[in-house]
Amino acid sequence: MNTDARGRLIVVSNRLPLRVTPTTSGACRVSPGSGGLVSAMAPVMRARGGVWIGWPGISGEDPGLAVQFRAAGKQQGYSFEPVFLSQEECDSFYYGFSNEIVWPLFHDLQSLCNFDPTYWQGYLNVNGKYADAIARRARRTDVVWIHDYHLMNVAASLRGRGRGARLAFFLHIPFPSPDIFGKLPWRRSVLRALLAHDLVGFQTRRDRRNFLDCLTEYLPEAELGSRSQPLARLRLDGHECRAGSFPIGIDHNDFYRRAVSPEVVRRADHLTRLLPNRSLILGVDRLDYTKGIPERLCAFGKALERYPDLRERVTLIQVVVPSRADIPQYQELKARIENLVGEINGRFTRPGDWVPIHYVFRSLESEELLGYYHACQIALITPLKDGMNLVAKEYCACDPDENGVLILSEFAGAATQMANGALLVNPYDVEGIADAIHAAVVMPGRERRARMRRLRRGIRRQDVFWWVETFIQAAIEAGTDIAAARAWPSREPARKLTGAGRTSGGSNPTPEHGRPKPPA
Ligand code: UDP
Ligand code: G6P
Repeated sequence: MNTDARGRLIVVSNRLPLRVTPTTSGACRVSPGSGGLVSAMAPVMRARGGVWIGWPGISGEDPGLAVQFRAAGKQQGYSFEPVFLSQEECDSFYYGFSNEIVWPLFHDLQSLCNFDPTYWQGYLNVNGKYADAIARRARRTDVVWIHDYHLMNVAASLRGRGRGARLAFFLHIPFPSPDIFGKLPWRRSVLRALLAHDLVGFQTRRDRRNFLDCLTEYLPEAELGSRSQPLARLRLDGHECRAGSFPIGIDHNDFYRRAVSPEVVRRADHLTRLLPNRSLILGVDRLDYTKGIPERLCAFGKALERYPDLRERVTLIQVVVPSRADIPQYQELKARIENLVGEINGRFTRPGDWVPIHYVFRSLESEELLGYYHACQIALITPLKDGMNLVAKEYCACDPDENGVLILSEFAGAATQMANGALLVNPYDVEGIADAIHAAVVMPGRERRARMRRLRRGIRRQDVFWWVETFIQAAIEAGTDIAAARAWPSREPARKLTGAGRTSGGSNPTPEHGRPKPPA
């Protein structure tokens, strides 16, 4: 399926996929951004073209940057539309509402929220700026795909101006249950804003269920169709929205191809030579309190304590990618991690022979990251809660020998798709993780291969292109049906909300309910 025939794809996310860093000379350096959203969407945009609207990552407006973005766009095959934010806007919208309220709340960490009432207005204003940028670039026939928790009010802002483009939204992070979501002082406004889209997508069925439960609880005036439909139909103020689950994938073939490239194999061999005769365990995370890094380190320490046979036989390589460095909780987390690494290494290291934890705190070049994926026999991925966790999928895609073991948190969205091959653990259960580490180290080769083969099959089949196609097709169908629905007599459409069958000729169910469509 091709959106070109029916409009371009306009991707809108808080961040552009490029990171801008000021240099000492006063000029700015533009480099690739990190995080799951960017990793997933960048190959898609390179493959199909379109426009990506987002923030360049530094405060203030710099006309010189627009020129650099145009050049970068030519190189990448799609165009960038920067949204510039002042320091004040960054403070209330990005650091404030997005990262001190929504991020912790949606990850069930309500005690970390700072419900500062001034943040909400900043959030609305900046969402309005993104809506302005869309209004400047989008044509009626385009599919506008808005991403993630920073931008939940953009569609409502556009609808308020009578803009008619097809508007779809995907939430990359979890959606919490009503007990937790209910703490949000602006809960009704957020729910109403989400219903302004034609389609709202979640990572898992659980997230979608939580969303529908929140609507029932806090927005009773919204009409809900049948919950058992793959795409639930919702109606508010005469507008129909659909909600489905669309688990995000990775560009499997690209990861696989690069993982066996001479450069990556050389790096993997080098690492194995440096740390010979032992199982290498890998953790890769942005610096974030949702990732469960301290709990994981404690579990690794516990494994060494409980299972002395692991000593000198395993090494944990923990990569932490700097993130949100201006938020105090992130600075405290860094100090805590470094403390724990020091403590565990201090307790178990044998000078000259063995250091249990190798700690890397920086953003990695792609080849370096793939070298780690390729070389490590075990991936230890234990977020306290995660929308999906792409590292889990990337690790498996980069294991051509199918000999690795994935230990995965049951609270990562990825667990719903990967339960058939991973060792699932409760990230809060330090002893349970310690046991899983031991089980992974002693697991017979045949079982490792059988598990990894199952994991890789799923990742290959439901890759990022499958995800995009399925989502966009659902968005187009929703937008088209809804345009038709708008033309209906005003009392008629309620019938559609009973879920008694679909009115479009559309065939594509949401991913968890049907055969995936192959990539275009
Ligand atoms: N990643 C990166 N630079 C690094 C290490 C990792 O860009 O130095 C990428 C990694 O390949 C993955 C993404 O960051 O695609 C992390 O996504 P994930 O869904 O695991 O977590 P998120 O950071 O989105 O919470
Ligand atoms: C997660 C979020 C993304 C975000 C990324 C990096 O993946 O879902 O929306 O871009 O983290 O976080 P940052 O705050 O640096 O954009």
